[in-house]
Amino acid sequence: MRQSSLVVVANRLPLDDNAAPDGACEWRRSPGGLASALHAILQPTPATWVGWAGGVGPAPAMSDIGSLRLRPVSLTEDELRGYYEGFANSTLWPLYHDAVQQPVFNRDWWETYRMVNQRFADAAAEVAEEGAAVWVQDYHLSLVPEMLRDLRPDLLIGFFVHVPFPPPELFMQLPRRVELLRGMLGADLVGFQREQAAHNIAQLARKLLGAVVTDDAITVEGRTVRTGAFPVSIDVAEMRALASRPDVVGQAKQLRHDLGQPKRVLLSVDRLDYTKGIEHRLTAYSELLRDGYVKVRDTVMVQVAVPSRERVESYRDLRDRIEGEVGRINGEYGRVGEPAIHYLNQPFDRSQLAALYQTADVMVVTPLRDGMNLVAKEFVAAREDGAGALVLSEFAGSAAELEQAFLVNPHDVDGLKETLLRAMEAEPADLEARMTAMRRHLTRHDILAWARAYLTALDHTGRLAEQLPADTPRRRVPRQRSAPPPGKDQ
Ligand code: ADP
Ligand code: G6P
Repeated sequence: MRQSSLVVVANRLPLDDNAAPDGACEWRRSPGGLASALHAILQPTPATWVGWAGGVGPAPAMSDIGSLRLRPVSLTEDELRGYYEGFANSTLWPLYHDAVQQPVFNRDWWETYRMVNQRFADAAAEVAEEGAAVWVQDYHLSLVPEMLRDLRPDLLIGFFVHVPFPPPELFMQLPRRVELLRGMLGADLVGFQREQAAHNIAQLARKLLGAVVTDDAITVEGRTVRTGAFPVSIDVAEMRALASRPDVVGQAKQLRHDLGQPKRVLLSVDRLDYTKGIEHRLTAYSELLRDGYVKVRDTVMVQVAVPSRERVESYRDLRDRIEGEVGRINGEYGRVGEPAIHYLNQPFDRSQLAALYQTADVMVVTPLRDGMNLVAKEFVAAREDGAGALVLSEFAGSAAELEQAFLVNPHDVDGLKETLLRAMEAEPADLEARMTAMRRHLTRHDILAWARAYLTALDHTGRLAEQLPADTPRRRVPRQRSAPPPGKDQ
C-alpha cells in the first residue's frame, strides 16, 4: 500500500464515472465547486485523494492524475440512498442552507451515514503515512475527523466546510447534533468560508458540549480545536489562460452570433439546485419582459443549469418547475427563432464555460444561500477585457469579497429587477472600474493562496504548504468518452 504525507478526503473524487447514453463508461471532471477548486491544486501535488467515483458497486481501479493518487471508496445502492441522497443531501444540505427547502429527518439514514463515514476514515487511515496530514472536506464527512483520530492519533487532521455552517437555532433541529459536532471537532483545525460560521460552531460547542470558546479556538474535554475562515477560490491562472485562447475568443464571438447578435446577453450558470435562486431570477426576468423594460429582440437570457442530484425528489421537482417556467416565458414572450431564454441542462467543459462567460454582458448569480459560489469568481477571472457586469446575491460567500459587484437580495424581486436594469445600463467606465478591483482581489486570493493559508494554519510550520505547486498547472482533465482512464478495470 502506497502511503502519502498529505491525504485529502472528500465525498467526490475529481473524476466522475458517468454512464454515457450508449451505456459506456464516460469519465468527466466532477461537478461542483469543491472538485473544481481542489483538483487545480492537487494534480501536481504528491498527495492521495480518497473519495467516491460516482457509481455504485465495487470501487473502480483508478490511475494517478499527475502526481496525485486516487483512492476510490465504494458505495452500494442502499448506501448511496441513505448516506449521499439521504442524510447528506436531504437533511444536512437544506438545513445548512438556511432551510430554504424543508430538511428531511429520516432516522433510517443515520446508521448508513455513520457507516460510510467510517469507511472513508478507514481508507484515509490506510493511505496516510506516520504523522501525515489528512484534510477532510465538507458536510458529507462530518464524522470522519473524530473517527480518524481514534484510529490514528499520530495524524494532523484538518476539516473544511465548503457550505455555510448554520446558526445554532437551525443546527439544534438536527436529531444527531451532538454526534455531528463531536465528529467535526475531532479535527485539529476546522475551517469555514466565513467568520460567522466559526462563530456559530463555537456557540454550539459551548451550548451542547460545555466547551470553553474564544474567537478562534474551542476547548473541549482537555483538547483544543482551532477554527477560522478561509474563503475558497478558483484557479485564476487557468481561467485567464482559457479566456485568452484564440479558439475560446472565437467560440465566444460565434455564440453571440448564434444568439442573434443581441444588444445584451444575460447569463446564469448553476448546478440545478434549489439554493441557487433560479426561480427568483426567472420571475424577475419575466416581469421585466412583461412590463416592457426588456425586449426579446434586444436582450437574450442564457440559463445553463447542469443536472445535479437528480434522484433526489426535491431536485426533480425543481427541474420540473424551472422547465415549466422557462416554457411559459418562451411561450409568452419568445418569437419564432428568438426564444426569451436559452435553457441548457447540460455539462460543459472549461473552455466552453470560458467562452460563455466572455459572451455575457450581465452575469446573474442569485443564490438564496451559498457557501462561496465559484461561478461568480470564474466570470470575473474570464473577463480580461474589463467589460461585463456581475449581479451577485448578498447571500453568496463570494459577496464578501467581490464587493464591487451589483449586490442584490434575491428574495426582493423588485430590488432584483431594479438591479438587473442598473447592471444592463451601467456605463462601460463604471463596469471597468468594478471589474479591475474584483480582478485585483482574485489575483491575490486564488486557489493556491487558499490552500497555502489553510495548510499553514494546520501545521504552523509551512512545510505542508511547501508540497503545493508554485503555480497551478493551467491544464484540465481531458474528457475520455467510451474509454476508461488508464488503469481502470475493463
Ligand atoms: P456549487 O459548488 O454549489 O456547485 P459553485 O458555483 O461554487 O457552486 O461551483 C460550481 C462549479 O461547477 C464551478 O466550477 C462551475 O464552473 C462548474 N459548473 C457549473 N455549471 C457547469 C456546467 N454546466 N458544466 C460544467 N461545469 C459547470
Ligand atoms: C457543493 C458541495 C460539494 C459538492 C458539490 C457538487 O459544492 O459543497 O461537496 O461536491 O456541491 O455536488 P455533488 O452532490 O454533485 O457532489
